[in-house]
Amino acid sequence: MVKKTLATLGIALLIALPSSGMATPQQDLEDFRDYYQKRFPGTPFDDFINGVYSIDKASRDQWEEIEEFPPYELNISKGEAEFNKPFANGKTYASCFENGGIGIRQNYPYFDTERGEVITLELAINECREANGEKKLKWKRGPLANISAYMAYTSRGKVFDIKIPDDPRAIAAYERGKKHFYQKRGQLNMACADCHKFYAGNKVRADLLSPALGHLTHFPVYRSKWGGIGTTHRRYGGCNKQVRAKPYKAQSAEYRALEYFHTYMSNGLVVNGPGARK
Ligand code: HEC
Repeated sequence: MVKKTLATLGIALLIALPSSGMATPQQDLEDFRDYYQKRFPGTPFDDFINGVYSIDKASRDQWEEIEEFPPYELNISKGEAEFNKPFANGKTYASCFENGGIGIRQNYPYFDTERGEVITLELAINECREANGEKKLKWKRGPLANISAYMAYTSRGKVFDIKIPDDPRAIAAYERGKKHFYQKRGQLNMACADCHKFYAGNKVRADLLSPALGHLTHFPVYRSKWGGIGTTHRRYGGCNKQVRAKPYKAQSAEYRALEYFHTYMSNGLVVNGPGARK
């Protein structure tokens, strides 16, 4: 009898293990930070917002020179003008956002428990347009990226505090993003985590690989290689392509989930977008 109960208990434990063994987002976050801090002991936590420049002195010096005349300055002013330009109905973007859209970048993406999905800043900007009878803007560059750059700029110094509400759909979105980050893909069979966690600080061809901690604090980013500004999902697509995997569509549920996980991993760091990169 006792034996049987123990056996049943054993089975119950085995069944329970996968879920109870799954780390909570909070534990993931602590492990993630610890990993990078151990790996780059010379980089203070707050400095991870600077991507590759937080771990390499030579490229940092170059970048600091670039930042003296930031290439994204024009994008910010265009974004500001666009942000304040009334729609045909007389309203502006300010009407769609908390605090008139100023200083709120650190709250994106968030999980909307009514809609049951992840809302990124770019999605919210385009939905604001549609709600006001305007056409959607292109997702990856141009005016949408400029508006996002301006909104990030007004939020500089604010601390990221992405929440995972106690809703199974929010946890599922987080887990989906986490899976994307750790899953090997493409012909090169490499995960985001391979390049930006396990090999962070090493070189791939001429590029030094940045730590994923702090990745999303400075988006959108002006990239010399693009000759312009681009959104987070533009970068995701590029990084998927690097391993010869088929990129997902910008603002697909997959990339929004990835952004949700990826930004959550930068909680506690400040907004410093828009950024400038090679
Ligand atoms: C084969 C290696 C490789 C893989 C795999 C890879 N990336 Fe990258 N990624 C790079 C390189 C190289 C750069 C440019 C140098 C840098 O900043 O790391 C980069 C840059 C980035 C940046 C910009 C960093 C900054 O500071 O602006 C982000 C964000 C990023 N990758 C996210 C991802 C995500 C998410 C994935 C998985 C979908 C991924 N990468 C997969 C190589 C890779």
